[in-house]
Amino acid sequence: MKGIVLAGGSGTRLYPCTLGICKQLLPIYDKPMIYYPISVLMLSKIREVLIISTPKDIARFKEIFGKGDFLGMKIDYLIQENPDGLAQGLVLAKDFISNDNIALILGDNIFYGQGFSDILENAKNDVKNGYASIFSYHVKDPERFGVVEMDKNGNVLSLEEKPKKPKSNYAATGLYFYDNEAIYIAKNIKPSQRGELEITDVNIEYLRLNRLKSQILGRGFAWIDTGTHDSLIEASSFVQTIELRQGYKIACLEEIAYNNGWINNEVLSQRAKLLSKSSYGIYLNRLLNQGK
Ligand code: DAU
Repeated sequence: MKGIVLAGGSGTRLYPCTLGICKQLLPIYDKPMIYYPISVLMLSKIREVLIISTPKDIARFKEIFGKGDFLGMKIDYLIQENPDGLAQGLVLAKDFISNDNIALILGDNIFYGQGFSDILENAKNDVKNGYASIFSYHVKDPERFGVVEMDKNGNVLSLEEKPKKPKSNYAATGLYFYDNEAIYIAKNIKPSQRGELEITDVNIEYLRLNRLKSQILGRGFAWIDTGTHDSLIEASSFVQTIELRQGYKIACLEEIAYNNGWINNEVLSQRAKLLSKSSYGIYLNRLLNQGK
């Protein structure tokens, strides 16, 4: 399975913060925002990842991740010339995806919760049987999101992008598992009223084919999309609270790579050295001393 992170868009809702830097590189407490979605792909044991961003911003991501060697991964990059919609990412990435299945995640989505790795594993297995997976989360303002209507068994009844009158309080989060057919489906959808190729329309097609599963991320879960100034602070405070209390870091990429057996002590030690002046680097050093 291959992973795609969508890290483009215009970022206008966060102006003036995003005049000089793209949204996905803004800090969420102690690391850039994009670390969080990348960590989700890594927890799904996906080692080949494509970062899609704007012509202006792509170089910055390359600066941070290079070819992905320090994570024992293969990281590639692709430019999306204009923010024409999330589904366009699937079409642009077709050479990278080749014949594989796909996990697509939005570069501004943060997930945190116990048992997440198992949930991801289930979705990965469902894809092998041709089922796409979305992840639903109860929110108080569903009209801001893709909205999932489900029956009492969790079967999806309908999906709507930012409806004025939402049929439920469940938002479709920005994480999607698809089989290879998603490229073909995305190619054939038409732009929405707001002029974008909507990922919700891809999901609606899977629903029509009876091949869409929705897993509910329950109350014990945190899902934060960092679309507003307030949610940026909320996300940072959330991460700070958990990290200071537990002494574990959320989305420490080197830690996940190390635990996955993708990097050895030597690579981890180089990273710890490079980042040694920060709390992140000190954490890596501690990991190294503790071993797995
Ligand atoms: O966060 C979850 C929501 O994300 C879902 O509930 C919606 O169904 C889905 O459409 C999406 O809605 P948003 O309005 O939040 O999408 P937004 O335009 O903010 O883009 C999400 C991320 O994807 C953001 O980091 C920018 C990036 N992006 C966006 C577009 C339109 C791209 O990389 N390329 C694009 O063309």
